[in-house]
Amino acid sequence: MTRRRQIYEGKAKILYEGPEPGTIVQYFKDDATAGNGAKKGIITGKGVLNNRISEYLMLKIGEIGIPTHFIKRLNMREQLVKTVEIIPLEVVVRNIAAGSISKRLGIEEGTRLPRSIVEFYLKNDELNDPIVSEEHISAFDWATPQEMDEITAYTFRINDFLSGLFLGIGIQLVDFKLEFGRVWENDEMHVVLADEISPDNCRFWDVQSGEKLDKDRFRRDLGKVEEAYQEVARRLGIFPEMNSSETNTETSNGKGLESI
Ligand code: TMP
Repeated sequence: MTRRRQIYEGKAKILYEGPEPGTIVQYFKDDATAGNGAKKGIITGKGVLNNRISEYLMLKIGEIGIPTHFIKRLNMREQLVKTVEIIPLEVVVRNIAAGSISKRLGIEEGTRLPRSIVEFYLKNDELNDPIVSEEHISAFDWATPQEMDEITAYTFRINDFLSGLFLGIGIQLVDFKLEFGRVWENDEMHVVLADEISPDNCRFWDVQSGEKLDKDRFRRDLGKVEEAYQEVARRLGIFPEMNSSETNTETSNGKGLESI
């Protein structure tokens, strides 16, 4: 790790300069935070699982024609991605009411929304990522109207695609958060999906039992946090040898995930 220049350390990931210009290495940590850093902890093996889950979902999203920053997975905790200029928005899609929309609008958690709703939040930890409207976004030039059209269209397509993919493995995609970035290729700028898609930034509920299979287990002290992340990976067919009843990042052959 000393070989490379660290560009940025976030709550769940570290970014290093990549081997070639225009590339970055994303390192996935086990660190977990909630409430904008108010609650801190470690979810053992989370980085390994999120690296694999995000790789899987980014590749699938790429296959339906949506450009992403993902290039390839390098090892258990790292992936190579394109350098992007992050658009300073968190794009949240909601299918079922949960979390902040339930609190803000008094909608009981679990209520199916009349249609999928997209919300935009400004990426600014000091301000606690406030919700913003497209009026704010265009007035302050955080993204152009053309970029917003593209982001919104990509977001709804990703939601339709992922909702179906997860329903096929018995999981309801309740809501999730996306980030987008700008890349320049052949003197042209375009928008690509960036960051990660994992149980850290999605709400996944088991269709049968309603059990939460995401970071809400950590946020709300529900226990079995690692197991929930493992279960999502197992259902996606990642680490098929993994048994969901295992209580740590050991696989059924007794080896730690890091050694696979
Ligand atoms: P919320 O209900 O807390 O607004 O969260 C909506 C979705 O967005 C949920 O799946 C978690 C995700 N999310 C993030 O990934 N990062 C964040 O900073 C926040 C606030 C939410």
